[in-house]
Amino acid sequence: MLKLKDTQSKNAFRYGYLLNKMYPYIKKVLWRSVLLFLLAVPLGLLDGVVAFSLRPYMDFVVNGNELQTFELWGHTFKLQAFFIKLIPIAIVLFALIQGVLKYVCNYLSDWTGNKMSNALKVDLFKKLTSMDTKFYDVNSSGIVLNRFLTDPDTASKNLINTLKSFILAMFEFVALVFVLLFNSWKLALIGIGVMGIAITPVIFIKKKIKSVSNATMVVGGDMTTNFNETFAGNKIITAYNLQGNQNHKFEDQIHRQFDLTMSLTKRVGWMSPIMYFVCSIGIAIVMNYGNSLILSGEMSAGSFASFVTSLLLLYKPTKSLGLTLTNLQTTFVSIARVFELFDLMPEIKNSPNAKELKEISSGIKFENVWFEYEEGQPVLKDFNLQVNKNETIALVGNSGGGKSTVVNLIPRFYDVTKGSVKINDIDIRELDIVSLRNNISFVFQDNYLFTGTIKENILMGKPDATESEIAEAVKLSHLDEFLGTLPDGIDTVVGERGASLSGGQRQRVAIARALIKNAPIVILDEATSALDNESEAIVQKALDNLMKNKTVFVIAHRLSTIHSAHRIAVLNEGELAELGTHEELMSKQDGRYRYLYEMQFAGEKTAGGK
Ligand SMILES: Nc1ncnc2c1ncn2[C@@H]1O[C@H](COP(=O)(O)OP(=O)(O)OP(=O)(O)O)[C@@H](O)[C@H]1O
Ligand SMILES: [Mg+2]
Repeated sequence: MLKLKDTQSKNAFRYGYLLNKMYPYIKKVLWRSVLLFLLAVPLGLLDGVVAFSLRPYMDFVVNGNELQTFELWGHTFKLQAFFIKLIPIAIVLFALIQGVLKYVCNYLSDWTGNKMSNALKVDLFKKLTSMDTKFYDVNSSGIVLNRFLTDPDTASKNLINTLKSFILAMFEFVALVFVLLFNSWKLALIGIGVMGIAITPVIFIKKKIKSVSNATMVVGGDMTTNFNETFAGNKIITAYNLQGNQNHKFEDQIHRQFDLTMSLTKRVGWMSPIMYFVCSIGIAIVMNYGNSLILSGEMSAGSFASFVTSLLLLYKPTKSLGLTLTNLQTTFVSIARVFELFDLMPEIKNSPNAKELKEISSGIKFENVWFEYEEGQPVLKDFNLQVNKNETIALVGNSGGGKSTVVNLIPRFYDVTKGSVKINDIDIRELDIVSLRNNISFVFQDNYLFTGTIKENILMGKPDATESEIAEAVKLSHLDEFLGTLPDGIDTVVGERGASLSGGQRQRVAIARALIKNAPIVILDEATSALDNESEAIVQKALDNLMKNKTVFVIAHRLSTIHSAHRIAVLNEGELAELGTHEELMSKQDGRYRYLYEMQFAGEKTAGGK
């Protein structure tokens, strides 16, 4: 199966499996991540240190408890004096250490997160370009784009950040709990108990967050598709005044997104206030009980201050520990989605002992070919055809009859369902795919030009072509006159999709691309159907040059354009209905070709007569 799921992939909960898959990417940043996690430990402990030092500060400095002294390096220090001197230095040092640690941690987490994410993206892109035509048929661009734009980031940056926050929160938590216990274990039990109650809702809403984030993803994918379609279909949208429709679609999507966000806020937004409320009850109990402990002399005021501070500080790490679970879950969902893409295997790939295709010696053969795009709906039914070397064969027939499908099988855009396509009597599935495609030039009806100059687009046929080869291709494709009218000539930049050229100009660039490739097999799928008669005559001349001494498949609705074909194959509903020369087929009284030809001829006559 080549179809990506809209939201979640099936492996989202197999953590071990996913980590194993992530390992090669983690390995690239392993040492820096370990360093990051190690540095998170002291950073986490710092809050505890603050809370801890409040006790001596209150007791010895604020309350002026001077009784205590201690010996150091032969000197006797009074604690009060010692603390008064120490505190300003400690504050500065503390801030310095904290600042440096924070900076280094942030630097490391950004570095490791981005490195990992980039490595994933590069490999994902390679995966994308390795996928076969079917993958692009069945997946919408929005879904695929989303996987590129958000998932690798979430998978790597979130992984690093969540682990960092987890370690940070963990040590913050442990340090603060230690301070609590150190000050009063009885109070500590109350405090921790209340805190436990306060964070329980976090665990319950995890599910809701997940379902909403999946739905958000679907809407996000739809939106991206909408954007792409607005670009690709802008002419249709303008011509049919569909702007309103398009706007409505987008507004709908935005509203759906709003509703989803708000439904999450509605369910999650009350959590924080409730947690604070529960905590306040806890603090009230602690205060009440603490007061009696202080009054009975069981606890010093400093100890109590230190305790309350720790308890308040404890809220943050406790909450982030709770969120760690949710975040890790989201991270793994993303990792699973990334690797779902990686796990897709193009159905069309090299066979283990693939042979190089060097030259065409004995032509191309379709043997009992069955083909279906959708299971159970055959498009080609037992199709047989032998095309000799350097023969030009024309495929004609009704729209939807399967002509494009036949030629799409030759470069293996798709593989046959049953039967075989053979070149030199070797099944093309046994041939090295790159060598197979190197032997084929394809000109379509709608030829895609890439952003760049006309020259760059032509050179795609043969990247190492010489200037004279380029000039030859330009001349044979009858582009020279047109290029002469451009100020930058062949170095003119064409817009995305070649939008700044006319259909015929684009077609001639495509023909130049095919000419310079000089491949022995040429496939022309409606390569001139977009043109008027005059331009067609020019392009046809270009095509005649391209077709010289090649094995050619030409598909054309306009039967006048196939006059140079040696033989004509008529396809009807996926079956070969007739095969022969123009004269042979015309001589059949009830022949399909004759019927098509006469229909067209009659049509042209009436059109001409008007
Ligand atoms: N990518 C695809 N996925 C599913 N079905 C497809 C796909 N491409 C074509 N088909 C179906 O296969 C059948 C044959 O299509 P094909 O494009 O080969 O016809 P054609 O003879 O080239 O038609 P036309 O003259 O209109 O170009 C059609 O019924 C079409 O709907
Ligand atoms: Mg077609």
